[in-house]
Order: sequence, then C-alpha cells, then structure tokens
Amino acid sequence: MNQKEAQRRVNALRETLERHNHLYYVANTPEIPDREYDRLYQELEKLEAQYPELVMPDSPTRRVGGAPLEEFRQVRHRVPMMSLANTYSREELTAFDERIRKILSGASFTYVLEPKIDGVAISLRYEQGRLVCGSTRGDGRVGDNITENLRTIRSIPLRLRTEKAPPAVLEVRGEVFMTREGFIAINREREEAGQETFANPRNAAAGSLKQLDSRVVARRPLDVILYGVGEMDGIEFKTHCELIAALRAFGLKIPPRSWTCKSMPEALGALDELKGMRHDFPFDMDGGVIKVNERSLYDVLGATAKSPRWAVAFKYEPERAETRLNAITVQVGRTGVLTPVAELEAVFLAGSTINRATLHNVDEIQRKDIRIGDRVYLEKAGDVIPAVVGVNIATRTGKERVFGMPSQCPVCGQEVTRQEGEVAYRCENLQCPAQLKRWLRHFAARGAMDIEGLGEALIDKLVDQKLVADPAELYSLNLEQLSGPKGKKKKSAQNLLDGIEASKHRDFWRAIFALGIRQVGAKMAQTLEQHFETLDQIMAADVERFQQIRDLGPVAAQSLVDYFKNSLSRTLVKRLKDAGVNFKRRPAESGAVTTQIGKTYVLTGTLSKFTREQAEQEIRRRGGNITSSVSKKTSYVVAGVEPGSKLDKARSLGVKVLDEAAFLKMLEM
Ligand code: IVH
Repeated sequence: MNQKEAQRRVNALRETLERHNHLYYVANTPEIPDREYDRLYQELEKLEAQYPELVMPDSPTRRVGGAPLEEFRQVRHRVPMMSLANTYSREELTAFDERIRKILSGASFTYVLEPKIDGVAISLRYEQGRLVCGSTRGDGRVGDNITENLRTIRSIPLRLRTEKAPPAVLEVRGEVFMTREGFIAINREREEAGQETFANPRNAAAGSLKQLDSRVVARRPLDVILYGVGEMDGIEFKTHCELIAALRAFGLKIPPRSWTCKSMPEALGALDELKGMRHDFPFDMDGGVIKVNERSLYDVLGATAKSPRWAVAFKYEPERAETRLNAITVQVGRTGVLTPVAELEAVFLAGSTINRATLHNVDEIQRKDIRIGDRVYLEKAGDVIPAVVGVNIATRTGKERVFGMPSQCPVCGQEVTRQEGEVAYRCENLQCPAQLKRWLRHFAARGAMDIEGLGEALIDKLVDQKLVADPAELYSLNLEQLSGPKGKKKKSAQNLLDGIEASKHRDFWRAIFALGIRQVGAKMAQTLEQHFETLDQIMAADVERFQQIRDLGPVAAQSLVDYFKNSLSRTLVKRLKDAGVNFKRRPAESGAVTTQIGKTYVLTGTLSKFTREQAEQEIRRRGGNITSSVSKKTSYVVAGVEPGSKLDKARSLGVKVLDEAAFLKMLEM
C-alpha cells in the first residue's frame, strides 16, 4: 500500500469507526458486533503506526488519554457560562411565570421542560466542526481547559456530523455525568483497592474531570448530555427545540426526554410526569429545568448577575429517612479490606426497607462525626445504595459512642495494616477465612460460575471444616466428605457435586469473572470474551493489547497483567484448567451463530427458558445490545412473566414487544 492508498483507507476507517461510535455511545443502537469494531480499530491503529504522518488529533484512536498535565490552562468563556437559580417550590415557578409574562407583556411563548442532570457543567467548542476546546464552568467567565479529559468521553464527537459545511464556531454546553451503574462499579473497585469511595455519581464525575492524567479519565465511565449553546458563528436557532434537534443532528447526545408546554400549569403537570420517571434514567436526575422555548425573547428577558431570566431549575427533594444507628460492625472483603457497616433500625426508603449501609471507611465516619447510638439520615447514593449522609445532632444524648477500627481482623485475629496513602485498613492474611469465604461466594455466585447448591451457609461450613482453601479445591470434593455423619446428607451432597460438575462447562466470560481479578467485573469479562478466544491468549496479552479494547482502560489493563504475572494466580488457573473448567470461547460464539439480530433490547419479567443473564448473552452473541430503560430508540422489549413498568412504557412509546415464544423464534432457538 502506498501513502496515498493508506491515506484513503485511514479516512474510510475513521469515518466508519466514528459512525459506529455514534451508534454505540450516542444513539444506543449498535449495528456491528464488538469484534468487528475491534478489527477496524486495530487496522486503523496499525496504519497510523506505519504512517505516523497520517495521525490526526481527532482520530478515533486518540481517545485513550495522553501524558499527564502539570496543571490546567485557563479558558475565558466569550459567552459567560451562567448558572440557574434552584427552587423546590411550585409557587416560585408560578411567580417565575408571572414575572416573564409581565416583562413580555402579552407576547406569546411556550416552555420546554427537560430533566435536570446531576453532573458537572461543561462547554465544548467546535470550530469548523472540530472539537478544539472543552472546559469547565469555573466562575462562569473563566474555567479550566479540560479538553484532554473530555476527549476520552466516547459520546463526545471529535467532529460534528454534518453533510453541509459546519458552522465556523459552535459552543455547546451540557453536563458530564457518571451513570449509576458506573458509579456503583467504580466504588466497588475503589473499596476493594482500599481507596476512598465517591459519595455520589456527581462527585465521581467531578473528581474524574479534575484529574490531570487523562489516561485515568479514559477509564472512568463518564457520559455527557448537551442542552445549550454558548458562542456561535454561522448558525442560529429560533427555538430551544430547534437547537436541540440541531445538536442531535450533529451527533451530540441530548436530553433523553423533553416536554413542550403551552403554559406553566402544563409544565407543572409535565414536572410530575418527569418525577415519576426519576428512577428510569440510567443517571441521577435531581429535578427539571423549565426554559422559554422562543430564543428571540431571551434578550428581552435578560439576566441577573448569575442566571438568565428565561430558565429556572426545579429540584425534587432528595428521598431521605431518619433512623437509629444501633451498631457499627466490620466486614472483611474479598481482598482483605475492612469495611465498617452501619447496623440500622429498619426503615423504609425509596422503595425498600433498609437495615444496613456501608460506611465506607473510618475517615468518612470521622468526617461526618457518626457515633454509635446516633439518629442518622439516610439517602440512596446513585439512587440505589443506601448511604448515611449525616447525623441529627439535636437528638444526641451524650451516650453515643465514638467508633474505632479494631486493631485485629475480626475474623482471623491477624493484626490489621494501613498502607500509606490508603484510607482502608486491611487484613493481609491470605488464608483469612473471611476473605476465603467471600472469594468462594464470588466464584460460585449466580453471575459467575453459578454453582447450584453452593450457598453462603455451605461455603462457611466448607471453609470452617477446612475442606476447601481456594476455588480449585471445590473440584476435588467428594461425596464422602460432603455427606456428613452416616451419609445423612447424601442427596444434597450429590446435588452439590452435580452443580460443581456443571459449572465446569459455563461460558468463558463467567470463568474470567469468577477469578476475581481487580477491576474485572462481569461486563468487562464479557468484553474480554469478545476479544480473546482462550484464557491463554489473555494471559499472553500485554497492557498495550488490552488498551486497544474499547471500554478497557489502563488501570484494568495493568490489573489484568499484574494478576497473570503473579505465580499464585497462574497456579490457580492451571489447577482450575486441570480440573476441567472451561476457559475458552465456545465454538458457537466464534461464529456458529448465524442469526445476527443486532438492535437494542430491554428485558423485563421472568423468562422460563433462560435466566436474565442467559437471555442477555444470547442477544449479545447475535450482535444485539441491551439497555436498562425503554426509550424510543429501543428496538424490542422482551417481556416474560410478571413484567414491570418497562412493558407499559414500551406500549406507550409504541416499541415492539416480544413474548418468550416470539423471542425464541427471533433467536432461531
Ligand atoms: S440550562 C444558563 N438545562 O443545572 C444556564 N441546565 O441548577 C442554562 N443542568 O447550571 C442551564 N441539566 O449546570 C440546563 N437540562 C438542563 C440541565 C441543566 C442540568 C445544570 C446546569 C445548571 C444547573 C442549574
């Protein structure tokens, strides 16, 4: 291939990859399997290595982060990045409406309501369609230049999609956020690594964007939603709706829902509807923003020092409960980290009864001055995980006790340690029964090796009786050991052995996930399975190879390499392999599935022929994608028995619904 041909191929690859990036990250309707994307990505990477002069800053390969910065440069916002006044009161919204009507003295206008995304405000500057600068709000006039960090967010296009000439300047504004799922995963990782956890998804997003090392940002699950504009040259919009439609056409991610309302009472009704959807969005939404739709009125309406008069933010009260903190116990995790846990008087909060909540670490307990016996406030961080957010100091009696971390592991008694720079205390004893039990629980769990009959109680017994000292030993258990005195439990013992035997033939990704490698959750294990046929290939890969994979950042890459370098891990893997555990992608998965169904699916209710994971797996194997909430972009909702509200939503949006029979037919199973 000569230089000219290479240039042509590079251009074609970039265009194709950008299109698939958009379909995957923005439109949520992927068209090609991950492996195919990979192949194209690797081809581009190879060509760019061969012809360095063809490398461009906005190539899809340049999203993995670069050398760390010393500090952020400053950016002056030519159109200030204003903020909005927040209100919790509907009366104030009516007053807002009256004020506007008075200023506009009879001019007719409409409102638009959008979800208020609880993230970090950012601005993206596109010149001639290319992303040239990304910044934080800062004080509204001057912010930090965080371009390198923002470039790692895959849903931010490096180039605007347009057939026509792009506008000379278009600054778009919006919110960077972390999904709840991403937040939970990252906190789990951080807890296991002994690092401080984030209090909520917003802090996690803000903390990520502050990183000077964009390679760290590249592996944080960040996303963006854009809802406004700053400086513009060569483009204008009459209404907010028109603006949003244009952003969408440019390939930018816009709010997932919006309502156009003729009056404030109508907007208040829409605000109620939005509140009902609060938990359906994959990100934290803390209210709604009501905006005047007609942009020509913005100048007339003007602004106060901090915020424009054409918009107002309404915040929903956080769902909160108060209860008594009866005790603080200490749990020992799979990696030996000691986590203080709040034992609470049971209380109902946002859909469930709560009697325990993690307190993360001692520093956090001290910072919030939480004492045993206190009346504490609970909220759900990221809408799901109960968290103690504060103390009702007024109810203190003086009998409350300050908590101190035990100096010895509460399970094995070994002295606990605290590494410099870590907030966590650890039990370093690899044979600590608590660690071993957690490890086995993880290994045998439904989402991992799915060993039927191997529940918590039995694991406790196996460890306490010293029958099992690591997961590989499960495979050499025999009937005699398990049957109890006089063979009383022969039947359940045989069931367990059958369950263990069956687990040898699980999907490859389950075995990867079951190993318990730091940073490698189920989703990452599935990604690995898509990219490697055997564990040997994974073991032979280096950091660079892992980093070629979409969604796999440098920390996970390093963690994988470290894990397989360790001789203890290698021995364990060998013993599992010798025992017959499957560490290969199934032949079917390497191409025998002929039906490629593609598209985007949402599952609800219980299916009779599959577990949820199996159904998801079958869809993924055929190039389909699964999302958690139903939107207009959902291709099909697969509804089993006792479907949830997702089915109603599908019906109201006119999304096609498949029952189990139709689903099986589509899979050709
Ligand atoms: S419009 C001139 N729309 O919430 C500022 N803001 O509490 C116009 N936010 O400062 C902002 N979602 O950082 C707007 N759909 C949305 C929003 C939104 C979240 C943020 C934004 C704003 C703050 C106000």
